[in-house]
Amino acid sequence: MPTSTTNTTSITTSMVITQFAKNQANGHGEDLEKLTNECKELLLSLPKEKGWRTPYIYKYQGFWCQPQEIQAIISFQKHFQPRDTDVILASIPKSGTTWLKALSFAIMNRKQFAISSNNHPLLASNPHDLVPFFEYKLYANKQVPDLSKLPDPRLFATHVPFSSLQDSIKKSNCRIIYICRNPFDTFISSWIFSNKLRSENVPPLALEETFKMYCKGLVGFGPFWDHMLGYWKESLEKPDKVLFLKYEDMKEDVTFYLKKIAKFLGCPFSMEEEKEGVVEGIARLCSFEKMKDLEVNKTGKSIKNFENKHLFRKGEVGDWVNYLSPSMVKQLSQLAEEKLGGSGIEFKVFP
Ligand code: A3P
Repeated sequence: MPTSTTNTTSITTSMVITQFAKNQANGHGEDLEKLTNECKELLLSLPKEKGWRTPYIYKYQGFWCQPQEIQAIISFQKHFQPRDTDVILASIPKSGTTWLKALSFAIMNRKQFAISSNNHPLLASNPHDLVPFFEYKLYANKQVPDLSKLPDPRLFATHVPFSSLQDSIKKSNCRIIYICRNPFDTFISSWIFSNKLRSENVPPLALEETFKMYCKGLVGFGPFWDHMLGYWKESLEKPDKVLFLKYEDMKEDVTFYLKKIAKFLGCPFSMEEEKEGVVEGIARLCSFEKMKDLEVNKTGKSIKNFENKHLFRKGEVGDWVNYLSPSMVKQLSQLAEEKLGGSGIEFKVFP
């Protein structure tokens, strides 16, 4: 009786997937039932480990990711059509993405929106609303947006590692700016941020346990070393395509890096602009203090359901000294040396 066998098999498969989604979602607010069956099936085949904010994170194409992100990334990989004029900002979470979005938006749109204007979009909108993530906004929730009507140059952002960007992006002349931050501060920033996002009925993430996960590479879009090395190698091979920046360097001399970004993007500041103080104006407009104090960043929500206020914490280099024990410092130093030593990626870790 072939028909009934087929039915039985298909019912069983769908029941397994439904039960799987319920089990995974259990108690952590992650609604896996919203995923496509294709994505649920894929998850069943992927290695998984305990997640920071979701019960599990999954290893997709060599990096760790939450289920809803995987679905959005697959859609982005399948549907996004790059243009040579596109600019993509890339980072691993908590490396200074919000800041880079603000700076890049201000540079690229400075003819349209004067930096000194009281109506500058950065005064009324969070940078994540002005520069959308592929995986959290554009291709999230099963959306396939029509981006063809957006005027050039289009500005997007992603946390996807370089190795998982589709060939069309790699082969096009679109430009990528990567921001990277020392793993000590990135870990602490991620740990505190994740704890703020957890719902009240879920216990906080313990520092020691989360640190162990981070050192095993188990963090969203991690391992962090692979993420950094992917963009770093491409920036060495194709410096006109990938600009590799470090948060700490930018904190030290933001005007130098503003000029570098503008030049890389093909819109260098003119002598006149420099004399008029446009570069310093952008630095001030996008400064941590200025952005943290804006009403939109105190009250609004831009990425998923996250409150903007959590995106602006301390904005300093070296805050990790207030959290990490000497043995954690030793372990993470050794790990960074083992994974990044000799690559040319080095960090300033003290203020
Ligand atoms: P801390 O948690 O150490 O304060 P991301 O934007 O990738 O999520 O990174 C968040 C980190 O960047 C946070 O670090 C945050 O405070 C800091 N940050 C946000 N806006 C900034 C700005 N305008 N200038 C410098 N740092 C900023």
